[in-house]
Amino acid sequence: MANRLSDKVIIVTGGASGIGAACAEVFAAEGASVSVCDINEQGGLATANRLGDRATFLKLDTSQESDWVNAVESTVAQFGAVHGVANVAGIAHTDDNVEACTPADWSRLLRVNLDGVFLGTKHGVLAMKQNGGGSIVNISSIYAVVADPFGEAVSYNASKGGVRLLSKSAALHCAREGYRIRVNTIHPGFIDTPMGTMTLKSDADPAAEKQATIDRHPIGRLGEPEEIALTALYLLSDESAFVTGTEMLVDGGYTAV
Ligand code: NAI
Repeated sequence: MANRLSDKVIIVTGGASGIGAACAEVFAAEGASVSVCDINEQGGLATANRLGDRATFLKLDTSQESDWVNAVESTVAQFGAVHGVANVAGIAHTDDNVEACTPADWSRLLRVNLDGVFLGTKHGVLAMKQNGGGSIVNISSIYAVVADPFGEAVSYNASKGGVRLLSKSAALHCAREGYRIRVNTIHPGFIDTPMGTMTLKSDADPAAEKQATIDRHPIGRLGEPEEIALTALYLLSDESAFVTGTEMLVDGGYTAV
């Protein structure tokens, strides 16, 4: 099926890299106009330039509410409306266990991974309720459902668990208010992106760690960014009109074990 997002305008955060860049590319290929948002100006511009007239780059720090106000205003000024938001931007860090994690590390990560998604969801709702509805997709993680097996992702686990339930709360609010806005989460397994391979590179034996990580995915490989983008495409399209408040595990079987 082609043009699954024709005439829709989508804001994508984290569009400079990895899953966000793949989302921007897939959405534009399916007929959407895309605001590619990121704090990384160079990478975000590169993504937008690859997509041509259908896309624009907007500098956005997801944790700053004023940036969200600007991003929505600029998107409406350029493309006429907002019909979807994909909150993809996120960060990870190492030494993230309950003893080593400092309050500063904790706050820095939660500020982006949880506050940023809250603000993106809030401003998505405010923008879309004015044009009769829309869809919000929040990228969470398998780490919202299970903890890192070594207990090395305490702030990351907490942030992604928070995204899962803030999204369900927002979905219920929008349904109850009759906004015709749907809110759902995607929970990727390990994806082959700069973030997905960061922790592997920091290990003493990256090749062995990579194989051990692959082995935790019954399907026998890491995921590709496009595989997450295609799930987001479904959730942003009208094909998923009856889907809200749900969570889609796209993890090669990681959490089925
Ligand atoms: P990535 O590191 O390739 O891309 C993340 C993007 O977010 C970067 O372009 C970065 O500049 C941007 N970003 C970071 N902080 C920002 C902020 N405050 N405001 C705006 N942009 C900001 O990472 P990847 O792998 O594409 O991750 C995307 C999302 O998927 C993240 O939320 C991540 O937690 C989640 N995820 C990734 C998995 C993986 O294995 N790669 C697995 C499960 C979830």
